[in-house]
Amino acid sequence: MRHVPVLLSETIEALKLKSGMHVIDCTLGDAGHAEAILEATAPNGKLLGVDADPEAILRAKQFLYRFGDRVVFVRDNFSGLGESVSRLAFGPVHGIIMDLGWSSPQFEERGRGFSFQKDEPLDMRYGGGESTTAADVVNVTREDELERIFREYGEEKLSKEIARAMIEKRRIAPIIRTVQLVEVILETYKKKLQSKKDVPWVGGLHPATKVFQALRIAVNNEYGVLEKALPQAINVLAPSGRLAVITFHSGEDRIVKHFFKHQEHKTIRMVYKKPIVCVKEEYEANPRARSAKLRVVEKL
Ligand SMILES: C[S@@+](CC[C@H](N)C(=O)[O-])C[C@H]1O[C@@H](n2cnc3c(N)ncnc32)[C@H](O)[C@@H]1O
Repeated sequence: MRHVPVLLSETIEALKLKSGMHVIDCTLGDAGHAEAILEATAPNGKLLGVDADPEAILRAKQFLYRFGDRVVFVRDNFSGLGESVSRLAFGPVHGIIMDLGWSSPQFEERGRGFSFQKDEPLDMRYGGGESTTAADVVNVTREDELERIFREYGEEKLSKEIARAMIEKRRIAPIIRTVQLVEVILETYKKKLQSKKDVPWVGGLHPATKVFQALRIAVNNEYGVLEKALPQAINVLAPSGRLAVITFHSGEDRIVKHFFKHQEHKTIRMVYKKPIVCVKEEYEANPRARSAKLRVVEKL
């Protein structure tokens, strides 16, 4: 299944693309945005496509095959954006897009443990390699730190109780699969709510939603890399170049909003005062789009 790009026409319009422009896609994924960017900058515009996930790069190469040498692929974390741009002498940079989070095939097909609805190893890394997995975080992190992760990154109301229950469970056996983690969370919720339901839904959400989000953010240091990448993106943009960022939850949107506010009138101007959100037709067809926010700035 190919990822459906979110806020596609809005992003392309916001970037004010023209023939021959040079654009960076920091989150290439299944290349839906990249494809539209290459069409809008035809016949000779260039795209630098970055993704931390080697499988995403392989898939994107297939989707973008017809554009030939107009595309340069980089398998890296976008926290190294500035270095990639200077190493490849890519520029002048007229536009940059960041479409944060996971793509549908990562979530549905790659067995990385992003989804609480599947039985998979607790991995949750975008890029793989030697870095810490979600199982590492769950099994070695101290109780107070686990609680902080669930509270700060997931806004989880039962962060304390879930952290406690995880510590007790992992004393018996390591928690290495998604189903084990879901079980701990469900038990905690059922006890707290004195519920006999198999899944006591909370405000329309499965009880595991927030803990899974929090772990993914912690494993990939998502807030840290975003804070590192945003100034680099502004730095590599040419004057009048535009940066478009699509976020999917309040924590990452807050980082983008504060950074833009702080830089306003110094290095950038806001293209829109308020973030662009999806129309009803889009999020009815693609539920993930419901929480998407697009913020766009222009380099001074
Ligand atoms: C929402 S998907 C992008 C979808 C893409 N715009 C499309 O149209 O198919 C996000 C992608 O960004 C990648 N990603 C997330 N964080 C990253 C990071 N810090 N550095 C590089 N790639 C990252 C993920 O591996 C994933 O492929």
